[in-house]
Amino acid sequence: MCGIVGFVGQEQAAPILLDGLRRLEYRGYDSAGIAVCGDGAIQVSKTRGRLQALSDLTHGGADLTGSLGIGHTRWATHGEPNDINAHPHLSRSGRIAVVHNGIIENYMELKLQLMEKGYTFRSETDTEVVAQLLDYYYAGCGDFFEALTCTINIVDGAYALGIICADYPDRIFATRKDAPLLLGYGKDGNYLASDVTALIRYTRDIVYMDDGELAILSDKGIRIYDRMLRPMDKEHHHIDWEIDAAEKGGFAHFMLKEIMEQPRAIREATAARIQDGRVVLSDLTMTPEQIRGIRKLYIVACGSSYHVGMVGKYNLEKLLRRNVEVCLASEFRYSDPVVGEGDLVIIISQSGETLDTMAALREAKKRGARILSIVNVVGSSIARESDDVLYTWAGPEIAVATTKAYSTQMAVLNLLGLYFGDVMGTTDYETYSNAVKGILALPEQMEKILAAHDQIRELAQMCVDHDDVFFIGRNLDYALSLEGSLKLKEISYIHSEAYPSGELKHGTISLIEEGTPVIALGTYAPLFDKAMSNVVEVQARGGQVLALTTESHAAAMSERVDAVIAIPDTEPMLLPQLGVVPLQMLAYYIALARGCDIDKPRNLAKSVTVE
Ligand code: M6R
Repeated sequence: MCGIVGFVGQEQAAPILLDGLRRLEYRGYDSAGIAVCGDGAIQVSKTRGRLQALSDLTHGGADLTGSLGIGHTRWATHGEPNDINAHPHLSRSGRIAVVHNGIIENYMELKLQLMEKGYTFRSETDTEVVAQLLDYYYAGCGDFFEALTCTINIVDGAYALGIICADYPDRIFATRKDAPLLLGYGKDGNYLASDVTALIRYTRDIVYMDDGELAILSDKGIRIYDRMLRPMDKEHHHIDWEIDAAEKGGFAHFMLKEIMEQPRAIREATAARIQDGRVVLSDLTMTPEQIRGIRKLYIVACGSSYHVGMVGKYNLEKLLRRNVEVCLASEFRYSDPVVGEGDLVIIISQSGETLDTMAALREAKKRGARILSIVNVVGSSIARESDDVLYTWAGPEIAVATTKAYSTQMAVLNLLGLYFGDVMGTTDYETYSNAVKGILALPEQMEKILAAHDQIRELAQMCVDHDDVFFIGRNLDYALSLEGSLKLKEISYIHSEAYPSGELKHGTISLIEEGTPVIALGTYAPLFDKAMSNVVEVQARGGQVLALTTESHAAAMSERVDAVIAIPDTEPMLLPQLGVVPLQMLAYYIALARGCDIDKPRNLAKSVTVE
């Protein structure tokens, strides 16, 4: 939520800030702004709307002169998206500007205290409190660094802050707590950003800031201080993502590009982890004794990552013959969870920054559980706080609706299940070796599904003009239907629900009427006949059924339903890996036909760093 950039160096800052914000826009896109320090004063330009509006307003940044500045792209929390609530926020003196990602939880109390001291506020944001607090302390002590430490000592909540002060025209101040922030070391200057995608055009030499740290950036270098304000050195990371990976590369949307990238992404996530027919997880530090000693497994995540966990529950319970509990991170953290020593908590997150997931991780860790995370963004907070990390190696995912991250998370979780099953002695040789062969075949099978995108574009017409679409399925098909339904609703704004087929008759079937589109998932062979019975039930109520099944069941399914999408046959545990691809494309083409803003759906942001 919200993207921050900062630059100090030899070049004009504004165009660099706008370019960085363009790459961070997926984090929030209801308003944007920049502040540049030049000629001893701060100039601010900000506006409601997309980044293009800011770029137009500033003539591509040419209107603001100076080689130091900060920028922000916003996902509104406090106060509607308008010009005034957009960041940066200025102190009353106009000499301090602040950009912020996160939420200052005690802002109202602080605001009232400042108002008693005569401060007035222009915006409804929590962030403006930070700007005015800095002003207040700075006026009192005359030392900006001291004012900053006083301010962060008094604010509660989550924050990544980029700050400039006209009295220090060569410096950017930065700090973070529970919100991502990283520092970039360039040839022509130094950088601050919420995410590496903003920086890879300028530098690949990165330092991740940790909670409580402070940094002062100048064009000569970056000084970092720990929580005790002692200067410190931090490990540098080299980012090897290709610049093209964060560009659309000729596709109409990032989502389509990322759907199409899945065969490659799956290959990268799996191929190096399979050697001579065996799963090799060299990045895992758990010993066989520790694996065999696992008392209980939890999978904790949000959104689509949680849906991966739902698929994982079916697969891991089969492979490990142990109970696997799948929890929504936002619920887990406040549920007084029965988790502790001997338990393994598998955290799944594309961004590695989702606040609820991070909080759940900390809760589980505090209670003594071991944490293994499956993460895409290298060096992200979740990755750094876990005992073990398995990266998904999907490359940058820009579209808000996740696609390749979902598939690669599932691929890695399946590998983990097979690896654990082997070590625990609970997975038989045939299951293991068939699954390994199946995983290696997935990229090619996905390519075949992707090649049939025209058929899916046509079938999308079945749903385009409807207000409600239902997804039904059993077992793995149910777990997959959750993701199909979320994809559809988040980008097309069509109301959609996913139901276990057997549960329909306990209430929901009353919503099926003449013409209601029902996407019936029937890929899981052991329950194919049951899936068919449920298809018949919805058809009897007038439902218009689009079925997803395997090639070997397509003929039988076609006899009953309005339309069929067939995926290649594979091992049962791998069916959702293939099945998700047509569901993603279906959502994409429906949203396209409805004229939706596919990569940046309304009210959403890619990385959810608020509660
Ligand atoms: O970065 P994370 O995987 O932790 O994000 C979790 C969810 O916010 C995310 O999966 C969300 O549901 C997707 N954007 C849906 O497409």
